[in-house]
Amino acid sequence: MTGSENPPARTLLVGAGAHGLSTYAARVLPRLAAAGRLVPVGVVEPDPARRSQGLQVLGLPDSAGFSTLSDALRTRPDLVIVATPYFHHEAICSEAAAAGCHLFIEKPLSDSLESCYRIEQTVASAGVKAAVNMSGRFEIEKRALADALRRGLAGRVEYLFGRMRWNHEQRAKYRADKPYPFLNEGGVHAIDMLRAYAGGYPARVYHLAYRSASSVFTGCASSVLSVEMDNGVCWVLEGSWTGAADISPWRREYIRADGDEASLLLEDQKLWRWRDREPQAGTEARQLLADHSGQSQDHGTEYLLTRFLDWIRGRTNDHPTSLEHNLPLMDLLFAAFASADQKQAVDVREFAAAHGRQSPSNNRD
Ligand SMILES: NC(=O)c1ccc[n+]([C@@H]2O[C@H](COP(=O)([O-])OP(=O)(O)OC[C@H]3O[C@@H](n4cnc5c(N)ncnc54)[C@H](O)[C@@H]3O)[C@@H](O)[C@H]2O)c1
Repeated sequence: MTGSENPPARTLLVGAGAHGLSTYAARVLPRLAAAGRLVPVGVVEPDPARRSQGLQVLGLPDSAGFSTLSDALRTRPDLVIVATPYFHHEAICSEAAAAGCHLFIEKPLSDSLESCYRIEQTVASAGVKAAVNMSGRFEIEKRALADALRRGLAGRVEYLFGRMRWNHEQRAKYRADKPYPFLNEGGVHAIDMLRAYAGGYPARVYHLAYRSASSVFTGCASSVLSVEMDNGVCWVLEGSWTGAADISPWRREYIRADGDEASLLLEDQKLWRWRDREPQAGTEARQLLADHSGQSQDHGTEYLLTRFLDWIRGRTNDHPTSLEHNLPLMDLLFAAFASADQKQAVDVREFAAAHGRQSPSNNRD
């Protein structure tokens, strides 16, 4: 395709807070602009100081800054990046989709399952494309694990375990009074990884959640999740945003996949294949497959946004985190909240249907 068939996407950033500034304005948008894939056309941010910081970092004039999306739509964006807190996503998606903009939406998609389904319908009826930034699963070390699983290096996987925990109290902000803040915003990445590595659609979830008495989080910022997928693979996630020790923090999670031939273990960004049974002469039980230790840059967002640009320009037929692929994750997330509320296991398909899901499709990740 020639450049004229693929003009750079006019891109509007909505929300210039911690993530909007540090990930999009400071790094990913300038890199993709330099590659000729997009042109930043404006920043929407109600906070004047953050708005001017966003404009400055992107090298845009004051006239490209807006406090509301309605005003900003006169910049005629092709693509809107939704980087506000998740409880504002639906209103922004509706307005931008109605204006014909494609949507690259920060995780989690929205603040209720009904709202997620409404966004899906809005996007479909507007005829635009939308994907969610599940960047965690697309970091380089996570893609290495997914690739090793795809190549069958564990054999047939029957169980996975994930641990992700660090102290997030200083960044609690609007999260401080939410019921399950870790699972909703940090843990959702780990859920996304484990369910994708397991394959299938989530059948049943039990969520044990607890609160730390001295924490700034008034809800339960620690979660233990056990999940059974409809293909029989089971997994457990242990995660927390409180506590004194950063054990298995962001990017240095512990994820283990147990298969009938070997276990694959990702820990501290090192990927190991581990097999003690019948070791071959001269080989170690534990083999290092990949070492990405020390990588701290967020490549996941750039990877997914690049693929999104390919998708909206017709270079690919699908996107790995399109709404279709993301909704099974949302079904599971909200079923997990209900499980902790009710203190009992929840059938995810029934839960989704009771909340208006038309046809819970299988996860094809
Ligand atoms: N993919 C990732 O790894 C990752 C990492 C961090 C945050 N996030 C997600 O990014 C989103 C934002 O998180 P954050 O930590 O940057 O929050 P934040 O509070 O630091 O920033 C949010 C910004 O949105 C602005 N805002 C609120 N309503 C708005 C509106 N209607 N229009 C425009 N701007 C509006 C706020 O003024 C604020 O500056 C959340 O959904 C979060 O889960 C994703």
